[in-house]
Amino acid sequence: MGQVPENTVIPPILILGNGRVAKHFSHYLSSQQVPIIQWARSSAIAPLAQIIEKDQPKIGLVLIQDSAIEPFIESRPELHSLNLIHFSGCLSTSHATGMHPLMSFGPNLYEPAFYEKIPFICEKGQLQFSDIFPDFKNPTYTIEQKDKALYHALCVLAGNFSVILWQKLFKDFESRLEIPAGAAHPYLEQITRNLLAHPHLALTGPLQRRDQITIEKNLSALQDDAFQSIYQAFREMYV
Ligand SMILES: NC(=O)c1ccc[n+]([C@@H]2O[C@H](COP(=O)([O-])OP(=O)(O)OC[C@H]3O[C@@H](n4cnc5c(N)ncnc54)[C@H](OP(=O)(O)O)[C@@H]3O)[C@@H](O)[C@H]2O)c1
Repeated sequence: MGQVPENTVIPPILILGNGRVAKHFSHYLSSQQVPIIQWARSSAIAPLAQIIEKDQPKIGLVLIQDSAIEPFIESRPELHSLNLIHFSGCLSTSHATGMHPLMSFGPNLYEPAFYEKIPFICEKGQLQFSDIFPDFKNPTYTIEQKDKALYHALCVLAGNFSVILWQKLFKDFESRLEIPAGAAHPYLEQITRNLLAHPHLALTGPLQRRDQITIEKNLSALQDDAFQSIYQAFREMYV
């Protein structure tokens, strides 16, 4: 944090929830010497109102499941005097300001320096990330509220669905072909490198070559497999 006069008491930031993002962000804030207090329904050591009364946070990060954010805030009047922020990529609500970290937060924490690189996507005309965290270096971008659903759909398509495809390959290599999943790691790494270096040239394979014979063989090999319709959808979309 920036220089603050001696004896100044910095109000802690209240983190609500104890899921993946709450754990990652607690770790990030602590690494930046930002005081935090955390409250979660499953591990609360005191009622929320009591904690707020005692520690006087000014900012609350509502890092809970998207569908629970609005009802949770509505049912907690003790939160209403705080500046509330949520991290959902697709929710826009008058109850809390949305700031979406463009990152995937897995079970393991990252190096503190990595968190500074995570971009935050904020809404135009709303509180910005730098208003809440003026000393943080994270890049921020703003989008119109009406574009938030599209923004999030793109993140889910690319970020989440590609994971499902890779999980399928890892699992079927091992269970159906007796090839260790690790054998595909260099392939995945190089695809990622190619994509970052030359996004427009990164696609290879039968769709890119418009090799209909190979495409038909692939589709027939996926007979009775739920992923056959995924392959077919990509074929139709790519044409
Ligand atoms: N994970 C990511 O990669 C990622 C990336 C960007 C943004 N986000 C956003 O970050 C937020 C948190 O996601 P997450 O991945 O950390 O989720 P998560 O690991 O599934 O954790 C969800 C948290 O929400 C709490 N919760 C669920 N329903 C609740 C309710 N009715 N009242 C109070 N607490 C409730 C859970 O408490 P219990 O344990 O008691 O059920 C848990 O602490 C979401 O808005 C998500 O969209 C996530």
